[in-house]
Amino acid sequence: MVHYPAWDQDEARSIVSGLSHLEGATLPILHALQEEFGYVDPQAVPLIAEALNLSRADVHGTISFYHDFRTAPPPRRIVKLCRAEACQALGCDTVVEELAREHGIVVDDHGAPDKAVVETVYCLGNCALGPSALVEGELLGRIDADRIASLCGARQ
Ligand code: FES
Repeated sequence: MVHYPAWDQDEARSIVSGLSHLEGATLPILHALQEEFGYVDPQAVPLIAEALNLSRADVHGTISFYHDFRTAPPPRRIVKLCRAEACQALGCDTVVEELAREHGIVVDDHGAPDKAVVETVYCLGNCALGPSALVEGELLGRIDADRIASLCGARQ
C-alpha cells in the first residue's frame, strides 16, 4: 500500500503551478494532487481556481463530477491478527514480537492516523492454518511478520 504524506499546501501549490501551463490543466492537476497525497484536499480548490483563472465553483464542480477524486484522506489499512489459543500455539506471539523488533510495528497501537494498524482479534475461524490474519476481508493463513509488514507497506 502506498504511503501518502499529510496534505501540504506549499507542496500542493508547487504541483499546481508546475502543471498550470497545460491545456485543460484542471484534471492533470487533480490527478497529480491525488497521486501525491491520496486525495484532493478542499484547500486545493482556491489554489487551482487562482492558477487557472477559474471560479472556485468550476473547480469544485470538476472534483465532484469525477467520482475518482477523493476529498478526504483514504482510510488506513487495518490488519487483524488473531491471537487466540490455536494461533498462539502456531506462533502468533512470535509474529507480534518480530513485528515490533524488526519492523517497528506495535500491535494495537492506533497512533498516527496515516499509519496502518495491526489489531488483535480472537479467532478468525482459520485455526488450522494459523497464525491467521484478516486484511480487507481477505483471510490469510500461516502469516508471518514480514508478510504483515509488507501488507502495512510503507505506511509504517
Ligand atoms: S485461533 Fe486463530 S483463527 Fe482460530
